[in-house]
Amino acid sequence: MNPADGPLGSLHWPYAPEEDMSVPPLPDPRRPHRTGRFTDQTVVVTGGGRGIGRAVALAFAREGARVAVASRTREQVESVAAEIAGSSVYGTRAANTGTGPPSSLALRCDVSRADDVRAAVDQVTDRWGPIDVLVNCAGLFSMGDSESVPEADARALLETNAMGTLLMSQEAGRRMLERGRGRIVNFASLLSFTAFPGRAAYAASKGAVLQLTRVLGVEWAARGVTVNAVAPGMIRVETPHPGALDEDEIVARIPMGRRGRPEDITGPVLFLASEDAAYVTGQTLVVDGGWLSYGYL
Ligand SMILES: NC(=O)c1ccc[n+]([C@@H]2O[C@H](COP(=O)([O-])OP(=O)(O)OC[C@H]3O[C@@H](n4cnc5c(N)ncnc54)[C@H](OP(=O)(O)O)[C@@H]3O)[C@@H](O)[C@H]2O)c1
Repeated sequence: MNPADGPLGSLHWPYAPEEDMSVPPLPDPRRPHRTGRFTDQTVVVTGGGRGIGRAVALAFAREGARVAVASRTREQVESVAAEIAGSSVYGTRAANTGTGPPSSLALRCDVSRADDVRAAVDQVTDRWGPIDVLVNCAGLFSMGDSESVPEADARALLETNAMGTLLMSQEAGRRMLERGRGRIVNFASLLSFTAFPGRAAYAASKGAVLQLTRVLGVEWAARGVTVNAVAPGMIRVETPHPGALDEDEIVARIPMGRRGRPEDITGPVLFLASEDAAYVTGQTLVVDGGWLSYGYL
């Protein structure tokens, strides 16, 4: 289908697939601390070594936060931490003026392992003190016929996406609750809400993230800790996400007429982690260019 001839008409659906991937420019990186709203806050981003997590880590650093990035691949988290530490665009004023500790930390951590999670959270708090914001972005993806998905693959996926989110939230959350303040932002998905064939384990894991977000949100609501999630739509990242549809079909189904970029997700994450969202908890914010609301094809 040519989206220009789509059911919403060309007035409401102006883009052809791939016609215009240009989006508003990112904030000028030469202007550090854009708003400074996370200045001197400590932020942990799991899955921060690449893709959306990397963009989220850089966005917090640009707003003045100390950022710890965690994943299983040491070189990737070290590279992002070095990117933050090596540029005056990022990081805390104290770090940038050489009067405080570095504003980034690389953590090798498998979020599905309780001992790794405990060690990572200890390392951050030993270095910087209490964690202000936890972003649970680490995630695995797979697809295959449900009747034959290998048990090990399904377990790995559920243990990373669902258990990893729970373990990190427990370990950081306990300390946030003691302190009476904290922000947790989880990563759900369109598959938290709807079904695609061949994604049983992934959808189950992201459905679990949605419900974890609700339960922790209400349980911790009166104790100063908010728990929310973003649900990204079709985001272009380097890691291949194999699927049954070709790229034109995917783009044609997105009302905004383009895939998202990792940077399309950072604003909503920072909002949920900020004081602006102080009265928001247990919510999942869908960031998908209109995909989930669109009911035609
Ligand atoms: N891209 C999309 O279209 C899309 C759509 C909806 C939701 N999401 C969600 O958004 C999040 C980020 O996805 P992405 O597209 O940016 O994927 P990505 O580029 O593959 O990044 C995933 C990150 O998670 C880390 N990770 C995976 N398993 C881990 C584990 N057990 N422990 C610690 N870290 C682990 C990876 O590093 P290592 O492999 O080195 O550990 C990597 O840094 C995921 O939760 C994903 O489900 C993505």
